[in-house]
Amino acid sequence: MPALDDLNRRFGIADTVRFEELSDGFIVARVSNAFGTAAIALQGAHVMTWQPRGQQPIIWLSDHAKFAPGKSIRGGVPVCWPWFGPHATEPKFPGHGFARTVPWELIETKALPDGRTRLVFEIIQNDTTRAQWPHPSRARNIITVGQELEVRLVTTNTGTESFQLGQALHTYFQVGDIRKVTLHGLDGCEFIDKVADGARKKQQGPATFTQETDRIYLGTHGYCEIRDPALSRSILLTATGSRSTVVWNPWIEKANKMGDFGPDGYLNMVCVETANAAEDVVVLKPDQEHVMAVQYRLVPL
Ligand code: BG6
Repeated sequence: MPALDDLNRRFGIADTVRFEELSDGFIVARVSNAFGTAAIALQGAHVMTWQPRGQQPIIWLSDHAKFAPGKSIRGGVPVCWPWFGPHATEPKFPGHGFARTVPWELIETKALPDGRTRLVFEIIQNDTTRAQWPHPSRARNIITVGQELEVRLVTTNTGTESFQLGQALHTYFQVGDIRKVTLHGLDGCEFIDKVADGARKKQQGPATFTQETDRIYLGTHGYCEIRDPALSRSILLTATGSRSTVVWNPWIEKANKMGDFGPDGYLNMVCVETANAAEDVVVLKPDQEHVMAVQYRLVPL
């Protein structure tokens, strides 16, 4: 783990980026600029919070989230990589890949001329991760905090053979009341309904939430809108390099079983995940690079 002093000296930016140890061995970059604030953990290159000035938080972070080396964080923007969901053949490998529970190296912090702040992270692979994913590769997560939040996950095949990549930016959004939310942009898309034994269905109109929801939408268009009347706002998502969108809310029973959600946490969140999942996995040839990027922005409702 890099020393805190060293990080602050090399990557700190006066009044804009500073590093703090949240719990033993768990370091977070605190970003503050003219547009808002964000907190990003070095583990997982994980955006934990993002709040534009004068607004309620856009990203949901559970009050019961655990911040500890090797544990995934409930909330924020977990990076699922290099597979999504359970591993295709090895049930013992971690769900959603290992990227969210390993340290990432900070490569750069930058104050951009327009006032935005950019942080660039690169995953650190080790013997354990290589045993699960033997493909020479590089993953960078480039996070830009401005009026919008942009997350850009760049994967490069640095080896001599092709590989298949599954991934998701598993973002938890804060909503006023999930029961009143409508999710737009998926009308007409086919989805795999994980709470109906993987049945294939077709979305008609906006998606609404009245029970546990766990879906992989296929052939999605890179645009979604979370309309949230309880907070009188819409969150717009614009994505590139992604052809699937995962929509998830565990609802009461499942959230209670998880232990890091809190009793009513499910009411105030929805995951809308920019992904390449199920049959939408990406094949990367040697030297090829794939960029999956998403931007979030707020508009009044
Ligand atoms: C979603 C999956 O992306 O993530 C769900 O579709 C899963 O099936 C959820 O329950 C949370 O996963 P985890 O591993 O963070 O508890």
